[in-house]
Amino acid sequence: MGGQNPYIKDQEARVKQKYTLTIIDEKGAEHVLEIDPAKVPYEDHGLPGSILDICMGHGIELDHACGGVCACSTCHVHVLEGLDACNETTEEEDDELEEAYDLKPNSRLGCQCVPDGTKNVRIRIPSWNRNLAREPHGADSMTTKKDA
Ligand code: FES
Repeated sequence: MGGQNPYIKDQEARVKQKYTLTIIDEKGAEHVLEIDPAKVPYEDHGLPGSILDICMGHGIELDHACGGVCACSTCHVHVLEGLDACNETTEEEDDELEEAYDLKPNSRLGCQCVPDGTKNVRIRIPSWNRNLAREPHGADSMTTKKDA
């Protein structure tokens, strides 16, 4: 599954100019990427130019259980720098984020967050994302969330 959610109207966010995106992956490794709007989108996951789209296009693992259509929160990331260069959250994204573990003011869904290129952006993929997405639902997974 992939693509965009046809029920979400505000999907006009676009990458306008080149910028540097730094991604700290779930293992703590830093990936510094030069993003060129001419090369976006990379894959058919999430909004074009979204953090998820870029991760998929560069082989960086970011869980996306719903395929990038704003119907889960497994692509939750923290935007450490450049949040104001990203599109605004929609009501649908806010609703999904409310279900996310470790919600912070700089939390975004990777599949919905599209930096426009006016500033460089730095994000972190939390290591607990891996646990939430891959373990079975139920009492055991709740224990893992708290311990992560
Ligand atoms: S992948 Fe499901 S909300 Fe982003």
